[in-house]
Amino acid sequence: MLLSAREVSRSFGSFVALANANLDVEEGEIVGLIGPNGAGKSTFFNCVAGDIPPSAGRIVFSGTDVTRASAATHARLGIGRTFQVPATFEEMSILDNVMVGAFLRHHQRGDARAAALDVIEFTGLKALTEAPAKSLGTPGRKRLEIARVLATEPKLLLLDEALAGLTPVEIQEAIALVRRIHARGVTIVIVEHIMEVILTLAERVLVFNQGATIASGRPRDVVNDPAVIEAYLGRRHARDRGAHAP
Ligand SMILES: Nc1ncnc2c1ncn2[C@@H]1O[C@H](COP(=O)(O)OP(=O)(O)OP(=O)(O)O)[C@@H](O)[C@H]1O
Ligand SMILES: [Mg+2]
Repeated sequence: MLLSAREVSRSFGSFVALANANLDVEEGEIVGLIGPNGAGKSTFFNCVAGDIPPSAGRIVFSGTDVTRASAATHARLGIGRTFQVPATFEEMSILDNVMVGAFLRHHQRGDARAAALDVIEFTGLKALTEAPAKSLGTPGRKRLEIARVLATEPKLLLLDEALAGLTPVEIQEAIALVRRIHARGVTIVIVEHIMEVILTLAERVLVFNQGATIASGRPRDVVNDPAVIEAYLGRRHARDRGAHAP
């Protein structure tokens, strides 16, 4: 087992964002994590990547208990994550942004630069190597976010809506990139609202609603599960009526 997250909960004050979430991931898997807005998907990633500690539960990665470990420790052990809102250094070049990630494994500047250039080529950003991050459009930003994490050489990659905002053609290109990352031996957990992406990439899907797991299984079965449809439609009906989603 590469990752074992058991009964992971997280509250913000009295609000329970995540309630006893479970996820076991075997090495080599691509697992999809879906659920309506506010279901707790990003909060779960924040806990698994060490960006915030869970309020309760246990997270074991590669045999090491990382429940209370720092984000830096998580990264060093091989957990990488993209952020839903890209954490890019806007004034810096693509190369410098990716080098920030590469310094985790390469302490000599020249080595970090060479590793970053490899990742930049792999992610299709080569022509933009020296361009400032702020000059990128949406597809470039999404790629840079992935490149920055790949440069840390993760064993487990958590993608948080890394394909959101792309056109259908760009989505296909991004799906191909995720497949190439997977083919390099990286295990992937992918959060995505675009169902086509989940159905295409994931072998197994987990559904969150209001912080709890409401379904899991094969993608096709899960999207036809009445409880899952209810979770999505319930939310949409509430929005259509102008009510606040809980
Ligand atoms: N730092 C925080 N402080 C207070 N509440 C938070 C915090 N982070 C998340 N929440 C709340 O926790 C709930 C879950 O948020 P989260 O971002 O995990 O949802 P999500 O499933 O990723 O949603 P989306 O699909 O919109 O990205 C939301 O109601 C959110 O407002
Ligand atoms: Mg989110």
